[in-house]
This record gives sequence, structure tokens and C-alpha cells, in this order.
Amino acid sequence: MIGVFDSGYGGLTILRQFQAVMPGYDWLYLGDNARAPYGTRSFDVVYEFTRQAVEHLFRQGCPLVILACNTASAKALRTIQQEVLPRHWPDRRVLGVIRPTVEEVGNITRSRHVGLLATPGTVNSHSYALEIEKIQPDITLTEMACPMWVPIVESGEAHGDGADWFVNKYISQLLDADPQIDTLLLGCTHYPILLPKIRKYAPEGIKVVPQGGIVADSLKDYLRRHPEIDSRCSRNGVTRFLTTENPDKFNTLASIFLDRQISARRTDLCV
Ligand code: DGL
Repeated sequence: MIGVFDSGYGGLTILRQFQAVMPGYDWLYLGDNARAPYGTRSFDVVYEFTRQAVEHLFRQGCPLVILACNTASAKALRTIQQEVLPRHWPDRRVLGVIRPTVEEVGNITRSRHVGLLATPGTVNSHSYALEIEKIQPDITLTEMACPMWVPIVESGEAHGDGADWFVNKYISQLLDADPQIDTLLLGCTHYPILLPKIRKYAPEGIKVVPQGGIVADSLKDYLRRHPEIDSRCSRNGVTRFLTTENPDKFNTLASIFLDRQISARRTDLCV
């Protein structure tokens, strides 16, 4: 199975796109709900939690794990790729969501001014800014932390009236900071759940870009270019769900993200 890891529910928006773009594959989703949110945690803590989750998925047999969480991708991906894999898991692979998103954004913006909406953890890491500097140096990126958006989604308030104020607040602040922005990048996997409100407050002509489809196309392309990994991924069209919290709670909220009922199992992340 291909492992898909997120701090909680957000990665389900990415999983949905994986299932749509690569329907035959098997997926093992792990949400570290007991320790979420990651977005406000320090670098070291996010790294350690993510390493534990990735190794857990490896022990379940996953040859490949996708960090379907921007915060984990920002704070843990490089170190896991450069230190953990060569030393302990040389035949396994871990991929993140930031690089493929940055690669695609260059094809979308016309003004070359892009706004990033993300968790405080992702913004403070400046991972998007660093990737943009490396591969799209003509793009000006302005980053905006949206600390209230994940709690709004996780409390089931994404479509309620209270969400409007905070959605409008962060979008307005971002566009005030750089009025030339023509593309809003949703750099957190929870944010697609807020899409109707984000579209409502993004002025006309501004493109709103969720990353699920981009990451799914990029994974498909990666497996085409790496047949040695692809041949180790099973294909029975099965998806399983693990959570570190109460599975009933997970099943209820996961249905908001997936639009269908699922049945998760509880798991402990061994250190
Ligand atoms: N889904 C995570 C991300 O993409 C954010 C949620 C959290 O703060 O744990 O960054």
C-alpha cells in the first residue's frame, strides 16, 4: 500500500485526489489526530512526530509514504530523506506536497505575484519561499499564516456564518500586503474544505489553487518514472484508515472530507 500521512484529517483532501487519479492503487492513510494540530508546533516536535509516523507506515509494509501535510513536509521531509532513509530504510521513499505545488504554480500565475495561505508552522518555515526562490525565482511570494482556519474546519464550522469573518480577514490582509497577487495558493490540506468561502472572498480574477490535484498528478508521474517503486505498490483498489485518536470520532469528521462513510482503526505510533 502507499502510505499517506497527515497530522489529522487534512490529508484526506489529498487522498481523494489520489484515488481519483490512480483508482487501482491501495492506500494506507494515517492521521495523527491525537497530537494534531501540527501547525503551531515547533520544528523539532513536528520532525519527531512525522518520523514516528513514517516509520510506522514502513513497518506496515508501505514502500512509499506521501507526507500529505504541508507542515510535516516543511519541517520533516528533508531530514527524513537525507538522514533516516539512507541509514534505516534505504529501499523506501518519502515524498512531500510542497515541491510539486511550487512547480505547478509557475504555470498558473500571470502577474508572477502569488499569495500563500498556510499554517503558522508552514509560513514560519518559509519552505514555500525557499522552493520558489530555487525553481521559480521570478515569482514574488507573500505568505499569510491563517491560524484559525484549521480549528474552524476541525470543529465542523467550515460552512457556518462564523467562518466568513476569518476567511475574509486573512485573504484581505494578504491582498493588502501585495495587491498584484493574481493567484492564491492553499498551502494547507484542510483549506479545500473552506473553498466555497475562500472563493466568495477572493476578488474576481484571482485564481484559488488547492493542491490535491497537483500532488496527485505529480505522484502518478513519479511512479511512471520509478517503475522499481511502482512495481512494489499493490493494486486491489483498497483504502485503509488508521488514527491515533478515537476511531468513531475520526470516522465522523472524515466523512466531511471524503463525502462518504469510512471505518478507521486506532493505532499507536511506536517510538
Ligand atoms: N493539514 C496540515 C497542513 O497541511 C495542517 C493541520 C495541522 O495544523 O495539523 O499543514
